[in-house]
Amino acid sequence: MNDRELLTRASQAARYSYSPYSHFPVGAALECDDGSIFTGCNVENAALGDTICAERVAVTKAISEGKLHFKRIAICSQGDQFCLPCGSCRQFLSEFSGDMELLCARGDGRYVSYRLDQLLPHPFSL
Ligand code: THU
Repeated sequence: MNDRELLTRASQAARYSYSPYSHFPVGAALECDDGSIFTGCNVENAALGDTICAERVAVTKAISEGKLHFKRIAICSQGDQFCLPCGSCRQFLSEFSGDMELLCARGDGRYVSYRLDQLLPHPFSL
């Protein structure tokens, strides 16, 4: 799957976003090392701290299906800024694949790519 196809999957996933508080839908599409794809969207809650980001939804779906190693994740919003993962999502992703690639898109479809260890060079680990 090429970058654009993975970004399209992320954008489609954002359609299911539950974001009545921020009005900021986010979609993610995670590519595992075996080529399988898991998508996610942000899921907000009236107790705002209980909100789950799109990236972590995609990762938990993948882990719960037995996947442990990830190649890439595409992240999409409709905003003017490239949708980079929050600090918690960087840490969460790094647990599994610290050198994975991130494709971070904005509303006009343009995107930037990073390796996770560029965005989180010193993750916490035990
Ligand atoms: N959000 C994500 O889903 N992923 C990110 O990387 C950044 C933020 C969501 C959380 C919340 O529902 C909304 O975007 C605004 O912060």
